[in-house]
Amino acid sequence: MTTYPRPYQIALIPGDGVGREVVPAAQRILEATGIAFAFTELDAGWDCFQRTGTALPAETVNALRGCDGAIFGAVSSPSHKVPGYSSPIVALRKELDLYANLRPIVSAPVTDSRPGIDILIARENTECLYVKRERLEDNGNTAIAERVITREASTRIARMAFESARQKAKGKRQKGLVTIVHKANVLSVSDGLFREAALAVAQEFPDVGVEEQLVDSMLYRMIREPKRYDVVVAPNLYGDLLSDAAAALVGGLGLAPSANVGDTFVLVEPVHGSAPDIAGQGIANPIATILAAALLLRHLSEEDAAQRIENAVEHVLRHGPRTPDLSGTATTEDVTAAVIQEI
Ligand code: NAI
Ligand code: MG
Repeated sequence: MTTYPRPYQIALIPGDGVGREVVPAAQRILEATGIAFAFTELDAGWDCFQRTGTALPAETVNALRGCDGAIFGAVSSPSHKVPGYSSPIVALRKELDLYANLRPIVSAPVTDSRPGIDILIARENTECLYVKRERLEDNGNTAIAERVITREASTRIARMAFESARQKAKGKRQKGLVTIVHKANVLSVSDGLFREAALAVAQEFPDVGVEEQLVDSMLYRMIREPKRYDVVVAPNLYGDLLSDAAAALVGGLGLAPSANVGDTFVLVEPVHGSAPDIAGQGIANPIATILAAALLLRHLSEEDAAQRIENAVEHVLRHGPRTPDLSGTATTEDVTAAVIQEI
């Protein structure tokens, strides 16, 4: 009797804006691999908040816990305070303890990409300014935000970074390099603790090189000499800023995937947001989310299928079709169909 493996249970959270266009594209790519999946679509985001009064329904969090992994699109968050609203992706990262946000920045075969870049940004994903402990004092004339850095969170993201550098260096002649990013010259207590914790982890990895770089000069040098960086580890906000800037070096946000990783769960997403300027037009680049789906497969140990997706994307980037962000005229659908054709 043949036994069939249980299908992977994958949650899909399209969210708002282009999230609703790129998540279905990634779903079709997963289906095209031939692996068995059972998909559950879950609600979250600004539209959800307006319909239901909550941006992250309890059913969504509960359903996620029963899944093997998730694909998140993007949500729209207003820049002013809305009572009762809080970004669901920030909450989910905390709720599911997805403490590492891993963002690969790799050269792509498009004219907008610079060659020879292969960076992994390991962004701490649970604390820093994202604890969102803000308050007004002085009759509303002074705003204060607390920034929380713990030894525990800094140590585990650093360990993930050094481990990743070790893995990346396998089969290569050069040893891996981790760049610890901070601003401990100014924030000597909070960034000082991050730095100290990361340097302590470095001691456990004598086979991996280590250096440190202040965040402002890091941005500068990453843009000037991106090829010299390997794995970059940073507190939450610095990692956020660095990863959008780094995406611009390799073809833009339309191509940049990320994985929110914890010890037992992975939720992947594009680095980009809901892109209201192009939402609803059917021209969002689905590749960031398709590459995020490949990251999900890799975390499920489906290396072969992950590689097939990445190869198919590489082929489509080389030969087209391309969406307008890559100076093409293709639609989301054209690109998705072309990737499926190559799988
Ligand atoms: P964004 O990342 O949505 O857009 C920045 C620029 O990149 C825009 O010009 C957009 O058209 C372009 N872009 C983004 N994704 C693209 C794609 N797939 N194909 C082609 N072009 C693409 O950032 P923005 O405009 O600052 O934020 C818009 C909304 O998204 C805000 O409400 C923000 O809060 C939210 N956001 C949500 C995130 C998440 O859910 N993880 C992350 C970042 C922003
Ligand atoms: Mg961001």
